[in-house]
Amino acid sequence: MLIKSAEFVVSNSRVEKCPTTGLPEYAFIGRSNVGKSSLINMLTGRKGLAMTSQKPGKTQLINHFIINKEWHLVDLPGYGYARLSKDGRDGLRRMIEDYVLERRELVCLFVLLDARLEPQKIDLEFIEWLGEESVPFALVFTKADKLSKGKLSANISAYKDRLLEGWEELPPLFITSSEERTGREELLNYIEGINNT
Ligand code: GTP
Ligand code: MG
Repeated sequence: MLIKSAEFVVSNSRVEKCPTTGLPEYAFIGRSNVGKSSLINMLTGRKGLAMTSQKPGKTQLINHFIINKEWHLVDLPGYGYARLSKDGRDGLRRMIEDYVLERRELVCLFVLLDARLEPQKIDLEFIEWLGEESVPFALVFTKADKLSKGKLSANISAYKDRLLEGWEELPPLFITSSEERTGREELLNYIEGINNT
């Protein structure tokens, strides 16, 4: 898919205040620092569109971006940011949960996983919760540039094995690097495919 335009629309702390244009949207979720905002910049080809940081906890709001004037990309805060106060963490968790459960326009939630890590409890629990709530999702491995091909395929196999303990089939799965622009066409084509059905 060709990205003709990508613009920031609005930041919100509450799902009720998100845009009401009814456009289909795709959101990015995952642990703090996993690379959600970087992936949005990579996909759109606009470096500073979503704000990124080396420090976890950068994105604290629900951020809408409009793509080709036809659909939204949504950058969400990360989960599991240990340095926040309990109230801060609870607030973010509620924001994320309300968005995921109540946002009608959400077509697919992309769950980002750090390709360098073995399956993490917090991610597996989040994925299980999506299953319980029947939220459509896909998995996106990030930072693939940071490890060898061999280690990458070992980590992805480990993830697949863990998922198949609880799921009959695997969700769509993408391997990306925002640094090397890996996985861009695959993800954009996947979104285009859904938008056209
Ligand atoms: P929060 O907003 O804090 O939840 O984080 P985030 O998930 O939005 O992560 P962000 O995109 O801000 O990236 C975190 C750090 O990881 C930054 O220093 C990025 O440069 C780095 N990073 C993200 N994606 C990649 C990648 O594909 N490869 C490499 N090498 N670094 C990456
Ligand atoms: Mg972010």
